[in-house]
Amino acid sequence: MEPLNLTFPKGFLLGTASASYQIEGAVAEDGRGPSIWDTFSHTPGKIEDGTNGDMACDHYHRWREDVELMKKLGVNAYRFSISWSRVLPRGRGRINNKGLQFYSDLVDALLDAGITPFVTLYHFDLPQALQDDGGGWLRRGIVDDFEAYADAVSVELGDRVKHWATFNEPWELAWQGYVTGEDAPGLKLGNEAALRASHNVMLAHGAAIRTLRDNVSGGELGIVLHLNMVEPASDSPEDAAAAHRWELCQNRWYMDALYRGGYPAEMTRLYGRDAPEVIPGDMEQIQEPIDFLGVNNYRRSVVAAGTDLPPVNMRRVSPPGEYTEMGWEVHPEGLYRILKWVHTNYPVPRVYVTENGASFTDTVSPDGKIHDERRVAYLREHIRYAHRAMSEGVPLKGYFAWSTLDNFEWAYGYSRRFGVIHVDYETQKRTIKDSGYLLSEVAKGLRN
Ligand code: FCB
Repeated sequence: MEPLNLTFPKGFLLGTASASYQIEGAVAEDGRGPSIWDTFSHTPGKIEDGTNGDMACDHYHRWREDVELMKKLGVNAYRFSISWSRVLPRGRGRINNKGLQFYSDLVDALLDAGITPFVTLYHFDLPQALQDDGGGWLRRGIVDDFEAYADAVSVELGDRVKHWATFNEPWELAWQGYVTGEDAPGLKLGNEAALRASHNVMLAHGAAIRTLRDNVSGGELGIVLHLNMVEPASDSPEDAAAAHRWELCQNRWYMDALYRGGYPAEMTRLYGRDAPEVIPGDMEQIQEPIDFLGVNNYRRSVVAAGTDLPPVNMRRVSPPGEYTEMGWEVHPEGLYRILKWVHTNYPVPRVYVTENGASFTDTVSPDGKIHDERRVAYLREHIRYAHRAMSEGVPLKGYFAWSTLDNFEWAYGYSRRFGVIHVDYETQKRTIKDSGYLLSEVAKGLRN
């Protein structure tokens, strides 16, 4: 394969991404309180391979080695999330200093290694105590709890961490947690609940941004959304309408709230009585100015009219092509197009690709290496397209491959590997895959 030979402007962040529950393990150590993912993964039948995150990648003990590995890759940034219940075991109240210390030490080690820490405050693992108190995100008062959590963490880390994302994928956490029940807290309450949870998440985002702004001098603050390019499956007006509704519900619901003053009216009408209660001041709070948008992207969405997620009434279609182990289509141009879509339609001053990657079954070769050609090809092409979007004017400031290590892939357990570093879960041995060495090659184009 010809080398990529891409150059990146000064300051461009190239790294890998992870999330606390997916890698840390040590769920009952040093005062950590349980999260909804502990409860959910220990509920029989919820995780495909019957596993949980009790041990995961044991990153809580092996983080020094993991930082060394990232250094070896030559990347200059690392996106990770903080476990709320490690810092505040009951979600609010007493701070667990040992929990904060863990992240503080990690940040120091990253900075020593020349790696910029990029923190996500919330990546799906709500403290169980807050779920038990009025249903987690269903209770509007949780906004104050999140703000206090953001304050506790940023007071401690804000002198060294400058990149902060409030939430990872609000749509997923609301719909998969409160409608389909496939993720924690595993509820199937319906649209009203998901929309209420989602609205409270967005209010919490705005409140936390204000707090972070106070605590982090020179901070770059934002949020991470899962955005896919949406295409109708055919020329029929029905499919076009379904694709339009899907784009409204997944992409524009959040983008319009953040950048255009409110939820899209067309979608609010469609939700009818399920639409969230928006009281005066809410939309101003959600629109608290942010510096960047994080885009998670893995595939495109080809959509036909159907019966899924009423009133969206859609059905995903899988056109012929290559698919990952998740059943997600490999379509690198989709990343380029969604970045252009963001830039064309919204006043976003800085964009990061905060996640992009592929799950494939890996085999350790007799030479001990992991020749993950399909992941290498996936990442190469996506990086190439992201770079193209940047060279055409999209203010792309960084790219993070999902994921640093193979890890606990939520409801799929350990059965799906996304890492650029292989983890042998029996021994916790780490091995850099060929896809990791691809990132090393890309890192040669950094100008820092
Ligand atoms: C994203 C999640 C991330 C990981 C990837 C595969 O939706 O943010 O934690 O599960 O999907």
